[in-house]
Amino acid sequence: MGILVSTGRGGVGKTSFIALALKYLRDGKRPSDAEHPQDAKRILAVDADPDQSLAMMLGVDLEKEGVRTVSEIIFDVRDAAVDESVGKAIPARPDQIEFLFHQGGLYEGPGFDFFALGAKWTAGCYCLPNHWLKALMEKISPHYDFTLIDSPAGLEHLNRRITTQVESIFAILDGTKKSFANISRSKRLIGAIGIHTENFYIVANHIFPQGTEPAAEMLPEGTKFLGSVFRDEEVARRTIEGESLLDLPEDSPAYVSATKVLKKAGYQK
Ligand SMILES: Nc1ncnc2c1ncn2[C@@H]1O[C@H](COP(=O)(O)OP(=O)(O)OP(=O)(O)O)[C@@H](O)[C@H]1O
Ligand SMILES: [Mg+2]
Repeated sequence: MGILVSTGRGGVGKTSFIALALKYLRDGKRPSDAEHPQDAKRILAVDADPDQSLAMMLGVDLEKEGVRTVSEIIFDVRDAAVDESVGKAIPARPDQIEFLFHQGGLYEGPGFDFFALGAKWTAGCYCLPNHWLKALMEKISPHYDFTLIDSPAGLEHLNRRITTQVESIFAILDGTKKSFANISRSKRLIGAIGIHTENFYIVANHIFPQGTEPAAEMLPEGTKFLGSVFRDEEVARRTIEGESLLDLPEDSPAYVSATKVLKKAGYQK
């Protein structure tokens, strides 16, 4: 049931952190049976970034799999590009969207399910796709032990409030003044707009000087520094090649350091 969200400035490592967390949690122990419904699956991964890079870092090719993004489904319905039989059987558009999502909007992968907001190929805001992202997530995330959400850069995704009850926010820090300022603003913003999170964690990225910690006075109150994800040439290479991070070797520096960070946050394997 726990919802984990990444946040931070552009390019700090939000998506790679979510991919590493998925690799770690996927193979871990389930919560106690009492908390764990019989039919629960382990992990739902959600790409809330219209630029969609999480799929690649998880080795998922939605197009090849024939899986539609939320935005694509909405526009299929709007443009009456859905199967005639669906249109006839389900007259209301919102019901069509939900039906089509369950039919072909959720990728079922090895040990995790995945869906993506996707890009919107028309002018205007992401209000409608976001509304649906939130609605669909609220509906299906209770069926999973963990929901991992990869966010776009900056603060706007927080304003969109795609989820309001979060277990842990992981704010990724690169050590620049801008990145500290981003974390302070994010912390303030979630309070102001009513996003409730049990934990607001700060994680240093691969650029942050290894083995050092940010000065406590640089971090907003109510946050906890967990440690660093170390630089790893294999992560850099796989990003360039568009390869999955899920089958990184167990001794990969990024994976080992990310597992330490997650353990410190109380996520046990
Ligand atoms: N531990 C690491 N070692 C080496 N390179 C890394 C590491 N983590 C991330 N990177 C590299 O940093 C770049 C940005 O990473 P990533 O895509 O995870 O960031 P992001 O915050 O999600 O970016 P965006 O804001 O564009 O969504 C990528 O090229 C990635 O390979
Ligand atoms: Mg990203």
